[in-house]
Amino acid sequence: MSEQDIKKGLAGVVVDTTAVSKVVQETNSLTYRGYPVQELAAACSFEEVAYLIWHGELPTRAQLDEFTRSERDKREIDPQLVDLLLSLPRDSHPMHVVQTAVAYLGAVDPHADETGEEANRRIAERLYAQLPTIVAIDHRRRHGLDPVAPSKDLGYAANFFHMVFDEVPAEEIVRAFDISMILYAEHSFNASTFTARVITSTTSDMYSAVAGAVGALKGPLHGGANEAVMAMLEEVGTADRASEWIDRALAEKKKIMGFGHRVYKNGDSRVPTMRKAFESMVEVTGDTQLLDLYNAFEEDFVGRKGIYPNLDYPSGPAYHLMGFDTEQFTPIFVMARITGWTAHIMEQQAANALIRPLSAYDGQEQREVPADRG
Ligand code: ACO
Repeated sequence: MSEQDIKKGLAGVVVDTTAVSKVVQETNSLTYRGYPVQELAAACSFEEVAYLIWHGELPTRAQLDEFTRSERDKREIDPQLVDLLLSLPRDSHPMHVVQTAVAYLGAVDPHADETGEEANRRIAERLYAQLPTIVAIDHRRRHGLDPVAPSKDLGYAANFFHMVFDEVPAEEIVRAFDISMILYAEHSFNASTFTARVITSTTSDMYSAVAGAVGALKGPLHGGANEAVMAMLEEVGTADRASEWIDRALAEKKKIMGFGHRVYKNGDSRVPTMRKAFESMVEVTGDTQLLDLYNAFEEDFVGRKGIYPNLDYPSGPAYHLMGFDTEQFTPIFVMARITGWTAHIMEQQAANALIRPLSAYDGQEQREVPADRG
């Protein structure tokens, strides 16, 4: 096998079909079940989009009512899981906490290994309903605060703010968060979704596939980038320092977080919508200094390299202005992507083939084990 036959990072390799979402490289567009993501963000709630991702169609009023009722009924987590979360070190990585919680839910589910439509939906909806409760408890314990119980009277996004901050903020903030959830929900064969599909292909269970996907999302080249963007902007500090900071970072051959994409080379279709959501947060909070820095940094970097922002560039500072701790941005991404992951797990199960690529060996030639090893 020659070097050219090896597709490092599987770049450009089509490994299977999917009906969940379509990424069109040439036009930088993304559709979920045929609907452009920016139209969904403008017209729908995250709950409607979650339903769409799993069922293939947007819900009717009655279907949505039933779906949201069922999600609200499942939000509460078992007291032993609360104790487990509270027992973890305060400085443990929040993605390790999420991964532990997902593994726990699998460990206590006597039907964890069941498959088929009904079993899959049950587990997927349980994870979707309980992940916000888990992330909120983790946030509060780090601040030395007691958990706040979920409220059945609040929608998905408003309830999350209620559980994290013990209050529901202005409508624009809740809506901006909901939009971010829609934009983060699904993205074809990205690294974490592919991880979930690889695990599923061995006929392992949904909890195991999701726990693996959480691990893949944690990395800064993938989901961890939304946190890395905020850390970077905080390090830069002010708009007038952007250019000099970029000079230094590029001289040190650093990757600039929140820019570039394996698939989109001319811009990410989710960015304009998330940028607007970020701007609405600037309006609410009055933090124009962060917006000035954001604009100056983007203009400078894009001008030099022609590498465009991805979704993590506007979402990081938007979550910051919503009041979330930087270390919780990637767990928030998990809350959204659980919908896409589980849809792909179901799709993989329905037409499974073990995912097992080949490698080209470049180690030692075959040799004998010496009898005398010194
Ligand atoms: N900063 C600096 N240079 C970059 C960046 C960047 N963010 N992105 C790409 N490049 C450069 C590379 O150095 C490389 O240059 P070279 O050809 O001179 O070596 C060229 O552009 C091609 O880049 P690759 O890394 O080969 O592109 P790839 O498709 O493998 O990488 C990736 C995509 C990993 C997302 C990359 O752009 C990156 O590391 N970005 C920063 C991390 C990030 O924002 N990740 C979030 C992805 S989106 C998401 O998960 C929601």
